[in-house]
Amino acid sequence: MNAVNKTEAKKHIEALRKQIDYHNHQYYVLNNPVISDYEYDVLLRQLQDLEAHYPDLITPESPTQRVGGQPVEGFQPVTHKIAMISLDNAYTFEELKEFDARVQKNVGPVEYVAEPKIDGLGVALLYENGVFIRGATRGDGAKGDDITQNLRTIHSIPLALLGDELKNVEVRGEVYLPLEGFKKLNREQEKRGEQLFANPRNAAAGSLRQLDPRITASRPLDIYLYYISWCEGRTYKTHRDSLEALRRMGFRVNPLIEKVANIDDAIEYCRRLGEKRDTLEYEIDGVVLKVNDLAKQQELGQTIKHPRWAIAYKFSAKQATTKLEDIAVQVGRTGALTPVAILRPVQVGGVTVSRATLHNFDELKRKDIRIGDTVLVERSGDVIPQVVKPIIEKRTGQEKVKAIPKTCPDCGTPVVRTLDEVAVRCPNKRCPSRLKWRIEYYASRDAMDIEHLGGQTIDKLMEKGLVDSIADLYMLTKADLVNLEGFKDKSAENLLESIERSKHQGLARLIYGLGIRHVGKFAAQLLASHYSSLDALSHASAEQLDEIPRLGEKTAEAIATFFATEENQALLEKLRKAGVAMQQQTPAGPLPLSGKKFVFTGGLETLTRPQASDLVIKNGGIVVNSVGKDVDYVVAGKDPGSKAAKAEKLKIRILNEAEFKKLIEGE
Ligand code: IVH
Repeated sequence: MNAVNKTEAKKHIEALRKQIDYHNHQYYVLNNPVISDYEYDVLLRQLQDLEAHYPDLITPESPTQRVGGQPVEGFQPVTHKIAMISLDNAYTFEELKEFDARVQKNVGPVEYVAEPKIDGLGVALLYENGVFIRGATRGDGAKGDDITQNLRTIHSIPLALLGDELKNVEVRGEVYLPLEGFKKLNREQEKRGEQLFANPRNAAAGSLRQLDPRITASRPLDIYLYYISWCEGRTYKTHRDSLEALRRMGFRVNPLIEKVANIDDAIEYCRRLGEKRDTLEYEIDGVVLKVNDLAKQQELGQTIKHPRWAIAYKFSAKQATTKLEDIAVQVGRTGALTPVAILRPVQVGGVTVSRATLHNFDELKRKDIRIGDTVLVERSGDVIPQVVKPIIEKRTGQEKVKAIPKTCPDCGTPVVRTLDEVAVRCPNKRCPSRLKWRIEYYASRDAMDIEHLGGQTIDKLMEKGLVDSIADLYMLTKADLVNLEGFKDKSAENLLESIERSKHQGLARLIYGLGIRHVGKFAAQLLASHYSSLDALSHASAEQLDEIPRLGEKTAEAIATFFATEENQALLEKLRKAGVAMQQQTPAGPLPLSGKKFVFTGGLETLTRPQASDLVIKNGGIVVNSVGKDVDYVVAGKDPGSKAAKAEKLKIRILNEAEFKKLIEGE
């Protein structure tokens, strides 16, 4: 090998690594990418090519080595440098005051740092000479498992520390799975017919304990660091300073952490964070209070079990046990039969829960949940309550296994189960339950937005035989309605008026309202921006549809299948005859917001969300739910929350309501 070339290559490799580390930090830690994904990939590819030529120049901290690890047989035990003791808990503000009194008795008045208590898994990361060399679980506190390979796959963990502030250091933090990632993972598990995770914490634990790091790499785990447990060559005065140092070294530190002057302010922080709890993108189970002054921390010391300078204030549990009184079976919009737990009402994290999802019959069998069982119920974030497991010890022998229905509980049609599906389905397209769902879906706020048409009214209309398809809504007369229980002149008129109004809701809402499999709001908007009418869309082949960027093959097929069905063609014909507008209602030519992506956050004052979305769509734009780099505008109303903060970081233009309106008017 040519020595000059190799020296050159080494320099080039080092320069590339520095650049990539910098961009990695901007993207994963600061949420503020400064180059495109494409440009990042080009840099990474260059490095990979060079390293392929000079394999002996590959070092473990190279950004190409995140997912290099081979599957292992088991994890090696690790003795922690400093024992990982846990925190003492407080469940009331009274107990927090008692903690503060104990602190004050020993070291006088103190400031605290208040931090969200992330509900994940505590880990210790060891760096030597600035390089990440070992990561371990807490284990029994003295010894944990070596999970270095898996932790390396978490992009926000620096493989090499930034700067020279510290070289040899051990830091502690919490690995967690954001709610979005948790929901996505469970959807995938369900599709594959695999066991669902009860909560984000279990999912994070399962992901970290994978023997194959490639599986861990596929899970969107993240980490917040909150403690320097050991370091060489430097000391810090306060905990706050050490958190700042963690940030400078390239770690993620939670932005909600605050310094508070005394215990009253700490309690106020707990109150505020408790209110925010359900709006966060990750699960927290409390607040950790830490004495800020590190000399005072030293003085306070620790017991065998807990430090005396910190305490965890725990929020009310999001789990509870209660009796499973029955298992009902619901028929969904697509005909899928879903078991639903009917529970003796119980408080879970401040909300009364009387029903919970059991997902599907496979899951029911796997968890061995029986009618009459005492069960553990959990509510996490904005996820619907679910039954985690039966409490086997509480069984009396009277519990009954719920069999998979052989026929649809609603229409009696024998159910079907295709080999590749976890779901049991009612194949009857005219099944009353499915029809009810379809109508409810069609009338929903994001679809045709038919006010006054709730589930109970639909039930009544169906019972009287007045509607047999969504198109029948447009045949209803005042005479039909006033004959229904609970309807008077005025309410009948109101309903008819909203039905009439729905005829002109625009193409995107209509497409969404048809309830085509896999076609959500986003796909419906995409389709409406590609086809000028429902007619044109209905004649598109799966291949043509598949060419629409970001639509996906499965969705393309589902759309083609939908329109190929005679029954659906008949439905379209009926809707057309009823006067439902099926054309794009905007003039041809470039639209002011053509191709622009919007996210709404917070409450608007003069517009409802559906109205605001419509304005965007009618002007050629697209509305999406989450803020990403490809979003053009974030419209922030009152109490905008984390989406606006993210937009700010990504330097996306944030508009207030007035600015948004001006933009729509083309100013
Ligand atoms: S401090 C000596 N801060 O909660 C320092 N822990 O028993 C001990 N946790 O084991 C940890 N968020 O896994 C600390 N902001 C935070 C935390 C936190 C979550 C976990 C950690 C710890 C457990 C408490």
